[in-house]
Amino acid sequence: MFGLGDNKPKAWKKLETEYKRFKNVQMRDLFKNDEKRAQKYTLKLKDMFLDYSKNRFDEKVMENLIALAEECKLEEKIKDMFDGVKINNTENRSVLHIALRNRSKRPIFSDEKNVMPQIKEVLKKIKSFSDAVRFGDFVGYTGKKLTNIVNIGIGGSDLGPVMVCEALRKYWAKDINCYFISNIDGTACAEVLNKVDPETTLFIVASKTFTTIETLTNAKTCRKWLVNALGEHAVDKHFVALSTNKAEVEKFGINPENMFEFWSFVGGRYSLWSAIGLIISIAVGYENFEKLLEGAYTMDEHFRTTEFDKNMPVIMALLGIWYNNFFDVNRYAVIAYDQYLQYLPAYLQQLDMESNGKSVDKNNEFVKYATGPVLFGGAGTNVQHSFFQLLHQGTKMVPTDFIIPAISHNELGNHHQILMSNVLAQGEALMWGKTVKEAAEELKKAGKTTAEIEALKKYKSFAGNRPSNTILFKKIDPFSLGMLIALYEHKVFVQGIIWNINSFDQMGVELGKQMALNILPELEGNAFGVTHDSSTLSLIKQIKKFRK
Ligand code: F6P
Repeated sequence: MFGLGDNKPKAWKKLETEYKRFKNVQMRDLFKNDEKRAQKYTLKLKDMFLDYSKNRFDEKVMENLIALAEECKLEEKIKDMFDGVKINNTENRSVLHIALRNRSKRPIFSDEKNVMPQIKEVLKKIKSFSDAVRFGDFVGYTGKKLTNIVNIGIGGSDLGPVMVCEALRKYWAKDINCYFISNIDGTACAEVLNKVDPETTLFIVASKTFTTIETLTNAKTCRKWLVNALGEHAVDKHFVALSTNKAEVEKFGINPENMFEFWSFVGGRYSLWSAIGLIISIAVGYENFEKLLEGAYTMDEHFRTTEFDKNMPVIMALLGIWYNNFFDVNRYAVIAYDQYLQYLPAYLQQLDMESNGKSVDKNNEFVKYATGPVLFGGAGTNVQHSFFQLLHQGTKMVPTDFIIPAISHNELGNHHQILMSNVLAQGEALMWGKTVKEAAEELKKAGKTTAEIEALKKYKSFAGNRPSNTILFKKIDPFSLGMLIALYEHKVFVQGIIWNINSFDQMGVELGKQMALNILPELEGNAFGVTHDSSTLSLIKQIKKFRK
């Protein structure tokens, strides 16, 4: 199999040379020298508009980046994913979240079996159950309407649903409230249980494996709370499970008829399109859930069929590679200028960092180049008043994605105009900067003395030349949100292909889980493991002292 290993692709070597040519080029000059730069480097798909012109590249760089994608056989690899080839090599699995939103009649195969009929079957079940809850046909044990929906899950079984539910809050049924219990910290459970009434609460236990300690512990606590209030017979009316593991669901004490199935070809962090999206469908209605799938499908088709130089996920991925592997900038920020998208960065952290935080390639060799970047972010304008100082004047360049809808769901006074002026200003300021000379001139105009100008001009200067993408939507609705999420999924996929890593396993989360299982009995009893380092041992002892 092809790998970057010691035999780097030809395009990689060319890009190393390109970097030397390009590293000091100023985006200011690129814009000054080419009036059409913005026009050239924008892409539109339905009501989504991607402006990637404020990036440090020119035509030649992009040509070489695309050559790199071609040399890494990206086209073939995309086809492999859509054809159900087992690209998750360490787990010997197909990767078919794209099948969950396949709106065409095209069959999709895994292990020579068309997976579409089973997917459609579960979608039907999601529709009828969410309709039944929303319209009061499926009610609680005492006959009351279920209006409090509690999703118990963690990682991919939480972050996708919570992010989408929040993003689509405006679409929620008026009488329905959604809650999410994820953390093993009892506080997460207690805070939700304090707010809801057992008679009107539906618990959705979401776990692909149904073995995750956090989810099972939280689910047990909630089950006990319900049984204490309404008795054992009430469980069937208040608990459903979303899982690939029927045996464990039954063992836990949830009626298998109340189970919504999904399959091992759906990765946890790619699962919100599956039964894991049940809470979304209950909150916003199945028709809107379908629109979310349609949005993702539109991006899938764009990704699958568009040439690389006009392909949004490919372009974003390649620019990410350019910074990560040539500028040595292993980080990026995603800032959503929409309060309803406040959980998007947390969702993307799992998507990107759990997928591409890898150091062994698909040839079973340790990599000798940087792979997945560190991703952070938040909601604008809030974050302008926290970490943006570093983005503008720190010593580290942080490529940034800005996400903004042109129309807000809450057009109060001129709030949205102010919000939009801010996001545009941030992109412009990061790119343009302010030279020391410009800062001095500005101070002079403001009537400062020569001494004052000398004292302040450097502090008031901005290096600029800091890259950003702007993803502009008409409005955040189920369809556009589906497109946005799929855009990032495919971006992460492309980068995994170029780094020749498996983006679909997550073995790095196992060691800590294993060690926690060893430490637990030591905290609960008097036993002490002999294998701990002295720091861990002393922390265990100190915790026990505090708890005495
Ligand atoms: O610990 C990581 C992880 O396996 C994630 O990949 C996954 O999304 C999460 O745990 C939850 O897993 P499950 O859905 O099986 O409970």
